[in-house]
Amino acid sequence: MDKLRIIGNGPLNGEIKISGAKNAALPLMCAGLLTADTLYLRNVPMLADVKTTQKLLQGMGVRVFTDNISEFEINGSAVNNTCAPYDLVKTMRASILVLGPTLARFGEAQVSLPGGCAIGSRPVDQHLKGLETMGAEIVIEHGYVKAKAPGGKLKGARVVMDMVTVGGTENLLMAATLAEGTTILDNCAVEPEVVDLAECLVKMGAKIQGIGTATMVVEGVDKLHGCEHSVVPDRIEAGTFLCAVAMTGGKVVLRHAAPKTMDAVLDKLVEAGAVIEAGDDWISIDMRQRPKAVNIRTVPHPGFPTDMQAQFMAVNAVAEGSSRVVETIFENRFMHIPELNRMGADISAEGNTAVVNGVARLSGATVMATDLRASACLVIAGLVAEGETTVERLYHLDRGYEHIERKLSAVGAKIERITA
Ligand code: EPZ
Repeated sequence: MDKLRIIGNGPLNGEIKISGAKNAALPLMCAGLLTADTLYLRNVPMLADVKTTQKLLQGMGVRVFTDNISEFEINGSAVNNTCAPYDLVKTMRASILVLGPTLARFGEAQVSLPGGCAIGSRPVDQHLKGLETMGAEIVIEHGYVKAKAPGGKLKGARVVMDMVTVGGTENLLMAATLAEGTTILDNCAVEPEVVDLAECLVKMGAKIQGIGTATMVVEGVDKLHGCEHSVVPDRIEAGTFLCAVAMTGGKVVLRHAAPKTMDAVLDKLVEAGAVIEAGDDWISIDMRQRPKAVNIRTVPHPGFPTDMQAQFMAVNAVAEGSSRVVETIFENRFMHIPELNRMGADISAEGNTAVVNGVARLSGATVMATDLRASACLVIAGLVAEGETTVERLYHLDRGYEHIERKLSAVGAKIERITA
């Protein structure tokens, strides 16, 4: 298994190009199931999860072509299998996003129930409840969700989600575009990746009102057509690099970024003492001092994102002062704490609240990643730790970051991938 070897080094300086957002690319690829035309996607990050989604769609008969750099052509004219198998779904929970579009277009779908993962049980009850409200008949059998739409079509309905769910909103939004009649989705997630999907669906001919708000109204249409769409820049990748500079000091400019999707994170970095400037598609950070400790509470967008919690905890670990980090979205998203403490951090957690007492220096160690963002947190901690840090189980990191070691070494980090 690959590892990253990192030597604690000085400030980072230079430019980094941000990739397209993983959490937008995955639902956008699944939207290809909604039409017999071709969906052209650009700015797609070449990540493990994108390749898994490609395999999943191809297994259903979707024609998928890619330049293996950043472009995909997805054509759903020859879909001949409405089943998403366990062996793929178990490697990527987001496979559940084929359920809504497949059921809406073909009147039936069988998707292996995604298990939990390291950060929590991650149920999909809201996805299923919403589809049943739209007329679907759903049974759970042998670990599979088996769904049918009577008469082959879902019916427009009013769906109120019990909590803000990104995947639930995306699945139900895609299903509603081809339902008979009008669907009102209430308590929607408004994450930029949900907005990006909705904007692409409108380009495909969907009729959606209220994009970017908690209530979307979707007037079902008979069919959707293809379109061209560029994936929104990855705000979490961008936030991860900004946290790295907040820890190491230096001046870095992020290109192809989307600062307008990152207000909460940028505000917290300014509070920590960073000088941030931003234009339409770039963000610069200038960090000339040790960061100041900053309290964090993760909430749905536009609040502080749960996917940035681990990375900001690394900043707080070396900050001046103490801070509290409260994780309100997932029940088990503090697994980076014991690994940071092995690097000399002083963090204690009780329930969903962690208290972080900043220390002047971390010390390099061999650490183990347990989930995607915990991995990123350990990598950026290694950039400032004294001596050598080895981050193991890189398959987590490779699911969400495109060439992270290349991007970081280009701005002065001492980091290399060791392929075992
Ligand atoms: C998406 O996951 C992202 N993944 C996650 O990013 C992100 O952390 C999460 O949204 C929250 O922003 C993708 O977009 C592929 P949710 P998702 O449904 O859709 C509960 C990363 O690191 N819930 O918004 O699975 C759930 O348990 C990943 O890039 C139910 O109870 O998240 C959680 O507590 C990690 N029932 C909360 O809602 C449901 O039916 C939010 O989950 C659905 C969700």
